[in-house]
Amino acid sequence: MKHLLSIEELDAGTIHNLIHNAADLKARRGHHEKPLAGQTWSLIFTKSSTRTRVSFEVGIRELGGFPMFLSKNDIQLGRGEPIRDTARVLGRMTHGCIIRTFAQQDVVEFAQYSGIPTINALTDEEHPCQILADLLTIQEKLGSWEQKKIAFIGDGFSNMTISWMWAAKHLGFALHIGCPAAYAPPASFLATLDAPNVTITQEPAEAVNGAHVINTDVWISMGQEDQKEKELAFGPYQVNDALLAKAATDHIVLHCLPAYREKEITEQVLEAHAETIFQQAENRLHAQKAILVALAQQWAFSLS
Ligand code: CP
Ligand code: NVA
Repeated sequence: MKHLLSIEELDAGTIHNLIHNAADLKARRGHHEKPLAGQTWSLIFTKSSTRTRVSFEVGIRELGGFPMFLSKNDIQLGRGEPIRDTARVLGRMTHGCIIRTFAQQDVVEFAQYSGIPTINALTDEEHPCQILADLLTIQEKLGSWEQKKIAFIGDGFSNMTISWMWAAKHLGFALHIGCPAAYAPPASFLATLDAPNVTITQEPAEAVNGAHVINTDVWISMGQEDQKEKELAFGPYQVNDALLAKAATDHIVLHCLPAYREKEITEQVLEAHAETIFQQAENRLHAQKAILVALAQQWAFSLS
């Protein structure tokens, strides 16, 4: 694995390995090797972040490396310097880069022009690090995602749902997305995905019926703040006690956070499932350390 740009480009074996290594790094936290010793990894963020930034900075340090956070306003990127020029500079000085931005193409272009391991820390199209942490959480809480029904209630075509759909394609679990028709994945995407185990419904109760995992996310993603009218379509798609009454008795609730209480999830549900949801947040650290270890290995054979 040279980069982590999307869940789409992963395969089942790679996902299984990353989750296995994440669980191992979690169990050995404070006692594992430091394969990033002597390395500097930059973090370029053009959107806000709490979990992703903190977990990467802590994770890089715990693996022996040095994290260098660069918000877009700190660097010339924010004044219009092209991503490919930024990439060619950082590629000559640093050992890897973690990018949070809008266009997926920018992350792809950075990887191409920098030549250094590049990690997608969220774009408008994918949030791969989050999905790996979510899978680790499901494994910890339910033993496995195999033979489980996973529901996603909310925006059917956001970075989170797109990454979940690719995860379902690779891993084969049943994914049921409950979303308004206007925010469903387009037919062209579903044709490309070609995953009969992914079901789209406008009935949230149908998606949650018998589900073991109920997932949600904000209705308005970063960068969509001027689309307030979106909220009008999402009222029936709130994760609340009435909806969860349809789920399997031993269900868990996941939320990538940040959460907007009484919008996509009620205060009551969030607090009732807080232990799982904040374990999910912590798992960002462990999952991303597994990604960093996998990507850092390529430096063992080149410059130090
Ligand atoms: N879930 C997630 O990516 O959180 P942040 O936006 O705080 O990084
Ligand atoms: N879909 C959300 C995820 C936040 C972690 C967003 O892009 O804002």
